[in-house]
Amino acid sequence: MNIQKWLTKNTHSLSGKTVVITGATGGLGKELSRYVLMLGANLVTVDRNESRSLALEKELTAEFPDAKITRIIADMEDFGSVKSVCERLKEMPIDYIILNAAAYSIPRKRCDTGYDNIFQINFVSPYYLTRELLPLLSARKGRVIAVGSIAHNYSATDPDDIDFSTRSRSNLVYGNSKRYLMFSLYELMKSEGKMLSVVHPGITFTNITAHYPPPIFAIIKHPMKLIFMKPKKAALSILKGLFDHTEGYSWIGPKLFNIWGYPSKKSLKTAKKSEIDRFYQTAEEIYTKLK
Ligand SMILES: NC(=O)c1ccc[n+]([C@@H]2O[C@H](COP(=O)([O-])OP(=O)(O)OC[C@H]3O[C@@H](n4cnc5c(N)ncnc54)[C@H](OP(=O)(O)O)[C@@H]3O)[C@@H](O)[C@H]2O)c1
Repeated sequence: MNIQKWLTKNTHSLSGKTVVITGATGGLGKELSRYVLMLGANLVTVDRNESRSLALEKELTAEFPDAKITRIIADMEDFGSVKSVCERLKEMPIDYIILNAAAYSIPRKRCDTGYDNIFQINFVSPYYLTRELLPLLSARKGRVIAVGSIAHNYSATDPDDIDFSTRSRSNLVYGNSKRYLMFSLYELMKSEGKMLSVVHPGITFTNITAHYPPPIFAIIKHPMKLIFMKPKKAALSILKGLFDHTEGYSWIGPKLFNIWGYPSKKSLKTAKKSEIDRFYQTAEEIYTKLK
């Protein structure tokens, strides 16, 4: 099957719908933005960098001259900026939000909320956005699409170090934040019917995967590009979340070993009940504190 055939079989027109994508300027975000416009939706991009956001809009408008694109600038490290985005989005008729923005190996710092920046970008800010937009999305029978990662299973969480601020290994810090995002949303949304889709792209070559020291990266980047799926194909597992929800603890990702192939839904058994209860309790405590 090629991508076009997959799209014909698995998607339908999104005409009249509004889709919000965070991190649209990234490798997967750009591909998702194209798919969403190709399917006729109105697109709202939420990005941190004005010039990259503007360049993306120009690129998309050249490809889709009738595209309706609204750009919002917000840095997920800056909680004031996240609050302003919520207020703007509440004024819009949004149907879907794709929680796609994330960071992996960046200089660490403590954010204004007191949390580690990777934890804030990947979990605190998207959870807050979801919590604030839930009534609107529920009224419009919309959906939250949360982009998870295989890395969520690299380590169990630690109640004494919620944001892994004492840990230095990027894969564990990133994985911990994705684990919080995925499982707290499963719990938050479990009584919300078909409003959640937890998805993941497998492994694909983007800025987030380019985190190796320059000499190592220079050697591995070419084989990596050959071995892993291109972002255009990997993005289909995220796109699928617009057309299918995930029930219980399941997620949508590449069929073969969670790394290659077209999207498929699988159940997840990567966390115990006691840990899942704790995710949700912690997420709600953080939300209440920040509200
Ligand atoms: N690539 C993979 O193999 C892989 C595997 C598993 C999961 N994922 C997930 O897929 C999603 C997309 O990642 P990607 O592969 O497309 O990586 P990417 O190219 O690095 O894109 C990440 C996006 O997040 C944005 N971002 C980073 N920090 C931000 C901040 N502080 N505030 C606002 N936006 C911020 C980036 O903005 P800038 O453009 O300004 O940098 C970019 O638009 C992420 O959730 C990632 O965890 C990717």
